[in-house]
Amino acid sequence: MTLKFKDLTVKYTMSGTSKDGGDTNINSTTAINPNINSTTDINPNINSNTDINPNINSNTDINSNINSHTAINPNINSSTDINSNINSSTGINSNINSNTAINSNTNTITALDNISLEINKGECVAVIGESGSGKSTLALASMKLLASNTLMSGRIFLDDVDISDMTDKKMEQLRWNKISIVFQNYGDVLNPVHRIIDQVAEPLIKNGESRSVALEKSGKMLDHLKIKPGRDILFPHQISAGERQRVLMAMALITDPDILVLDEPVASVDAITKSYLAKVIKQQVNAGKAVLLITHDLSFAHLCSDRIAVLYSGMILELLPSQKLLDAPCHPYTRALVRSFPMMERAKDLAGVRGAPPSKISGATRGCIFQQRCTQSINVCSQKQPQAMSIDGSNGDGDGSYVVCHRGGIATMLCVKNISKSYGDIEVLKHISITLDEGEILALVGETGSGKTTLAYLTAGTIKPDGGNIVFRGQEVGTIDKKEFFRTVGIIYQSPKDSISHRFTVFEAIAEPLRIHGLFDDNSVKRIKDALNEVQLPDEDYFMQKYPHELSGGELQRVAIARALILKPDLLIADESTSFLDPSVQAKILKLLLDLQNERGISMLFVMHDIGVARKVSDRIAVLHNGMIVENGPSHRVISNPQHFYTKLLIDASKGTEV
Ligand SMILES: Nc1ncnc2c1ncn2[C@@H]1O[C@H](COP(=O)(O)OP(=O)(O)OP(=O)(O)O)[C@@H](O)[C@H]1O
Ligand code: SF4
Ligand SMILES: [Mg+2]
Repeated sequence: MTLKFKDLTVKYTMSGTSKDGGDTNINSTTAINPNINSTTDINPNINSNTDINPNINSNTDINSNINSHTAINPNINSSTDINSNINSSTGINSNINSNTAINSNTNTITALDNISLEINKGECVAVIGESGSGKSTLALASMKLLASNTLMSGRIFLDDVDISDMTDKKMEQLRWNKISIVFQNYGDVLNPVHRIIDQVAEPLIKNGESRSVALEKSGKMLDHLKIKPGRDILFPHQISAGERQRVLMAMALITDPDILVLDEPVASVDAITKSYLAKVIKQQVNAGKAVLLITHDLSFAHLCSDRIAVLYSGMILELLPSQKLLDAPCHPYTRALVRSFPMMERAKDLAGVRGAPPSKISGATRGCIFQQRCTQSINVCSQKQPQAMSIDGSNGDGDGSYVVCHRGGIATMLCVKNISKSYGDIEVLKHISITLDEGEILALVGETGSGKTTLAYLTAGTIKPDGGNIVFRGQEVGTIDKKEFFRTVGIIYQSPKDSISHRFTVFEAIAEPLRIHGLFDDNSVKRIKDALNEVQLPDEDYFMQKYPHELSGGELQRVAIARALILKPDLLIADESTSFLDPSVQAKILKLLLDLQNERGISMLFVMHDIGVARKVSDRIAVLHNGMIVENGPSHRVISNPQHFYTKLLIDASKGTEV
C-alpha cells in the first residue's frame, strides 16, 4: 500500500478550539488509542483507583509524566473518568472534511502548505525540519486525526483510495489495520490505567483474536522491541520514557499494518536501542511496508530512510535521497540543519540555523519563505516564490529529488577549472580544479612548498595562471574590475607584512580599505574599534597609533585579519592566517570566523598546513600534494576515512604519531 498526499494544505483556525480543548467525540478517541473506549475489560482490576494502582489516589504520588502530558485530573475515580479526560485533552477530531473552504479572512496558522509526497511500498520516507514545521500535522493528516480547529484542502490517498472525505466509521476500519501511527506525545495515547501488555493486545482482540493469543503475541512483540521481561504487566507511568515509546511502536506494529507513520519514535531512546529500532524499521520496509518517519534525528533519518523530505514552515523545500543528506544537501536550509546536528565524526562546532522561522499567521508570502534566514539570497528571492527544480537539472526524470530555490540550491561561488602554474622549470600546480560554495569553508591542506600559497594568490587574482580559468560568481576573475572584486573578497596573506604597509599605523591599515572604497565616514572610527575588539586587540589610541614594527607577529596578523574583514567581504581567502597566533587567540579568531560564516554566510578558502585545525573549522578539505589535489571531500569524511596515503600521513602526523 502507498500513502500519498496531493496538494495538502492544513490550517488551524485561531478562533477555533485549541489543541487542548477541542471538540471531542468517542470515535476520535478510539482512533488515537484503539483500546481507550474498549468495552472489553482486559484488566479486571480497573474498577477503582485502589485496585489499579494505589498511587493514583494522591496528587503527589501519581507519576508526574502522566499529569503533565495527559492533563488527567488527579482525582481519578474510575477508568471512565480517565477516558473522558483523555478525550478532552487531546481535542482530536477525525471528522474533518477535506476541502473545507479555507477562508482567507479567518485568522489561521498554516501548518502545511500544498504538500505533495508519496511513500511507496517497501520504502521509508523521512520528514525532517525544525520544531513547528508541520511534521506532526502531516502524521495526523495521514490517519485523518487532525484537530477540530482544522481547515484542510487537497487529497490523501491510501493506494488509490481517497480518504480525504472518508467517514470516520470507514476510517476506523483502516486505522490500526491498514495504517498505524506512533504518536509523538505518548502521554496523550497510553491509557494510565491499563497494563502495557493489555494496551498492545487490545487491537488484536478487537479484530477477533482470543484474549490469550492476543496476549501471547503482544508479549512477543514487546520482547521484539527489547522491553525487558516483567515490564509488560506494568502501567505506563511505571516504565521509562524510552520504554513507553517502544510500547507505542509495539501497538503500531501488532496488527501488521501496510503503512506505518512514526512521529519521533526514538526521541527518548539511547543510541544502542536506536540502532536496534533502525533495524526493526528496515525489517518493516523489507517486508514491503510504506514507512513515514518523522524525526529530528538526522543520522537516524539517514540510516533508516530511502528519501528525505525537508519541511520548513509547512512547505517541502527539498526532497533528496537519504545518502545525500549529510554530505551533499542541496537547499541552504537542509545544510543549516545538518550543520546544527551533532555527529560523531564531525569536529566542527554546531552552528544552529540563524534567525527564526516566519510567522505562520495567514498572509501570502511574496518571496521565498526561507529568505529572511538565507545567506545567499538575491533580489528575486524577496519578490517571487521559487518553484521546485529537479536537483539533477533533468526536470523530473532522475530520482525525483528536487529543491525549491531560485538559485537551484546552494550556489557555487568560486570555480577553479583545470589551472596550472609554473615558475621557470618548476611546475607548481598541475591541472587543479576545485569549487567553493556560497557559505562554505574549504580548507586547502598540504605540506610546505606544495603550492598552497600559489593557489591562494591565483584565486585572489593577484597572479595569473598559465592555463585554465577561475570564475567568481559567474565571471572570470581576470575580467572583474579589481576595485569591485576586492570590495567583495578579503585577503589575509601568509606574512602579515605583505598585507600591511610599514608606513601605516594600525588605525590607518584598517581604515585604508574603507578609504579606497569611499566608505570612510563619521562612523568609521567606531567600526575600526569594533574590528579591533573582534580580533582581540585593544581599541585604545596608543595601540591604534602603533606602526607594524612596534607589534608582535601575532598582533600584526590580527590587524591584517581586522583589515580583511572591515568591508564585510563575501569571500575570505586566508593563507595560514592563524598560524602566528597563540592557541587561545587562535581559538577566538576561528570562532569569530565561524560566527561570520553562520550569521553572514561568508565563504572562506583557508590555506593551512595543519589538518587538525582544518578539521575544526572547515566544511570541506582539499589535500594538495606535489601540485595536485589528491583528495577533496566533506571534512568529517576525509578525516574519518582518508583515501589517499598522503592524507593518512597528514592525519597521523597531526596526531603526533611518528610517520
Ligand atoms: N490544534 C492546533 N491548533 C492551533 N495550532 C496548532 C495546532 N496543532 C499544531 N499547531 C501549530 O501548527 C504548526 C505545526 O505544528 P506541528 O505539531 O505539526 O509541528 P512539528 O513539526 O511536529 O513540531 P515538533 O518538531 O515540535 O513536534 C505549529 O505552529 C503549531 O503551533
Ligand atoms: S537563494 Fe533565494 S530562493 Fe534560494 S533558499 Fe535562499 S532565499 Fe530562498
Ligand atoms: Mg511534532
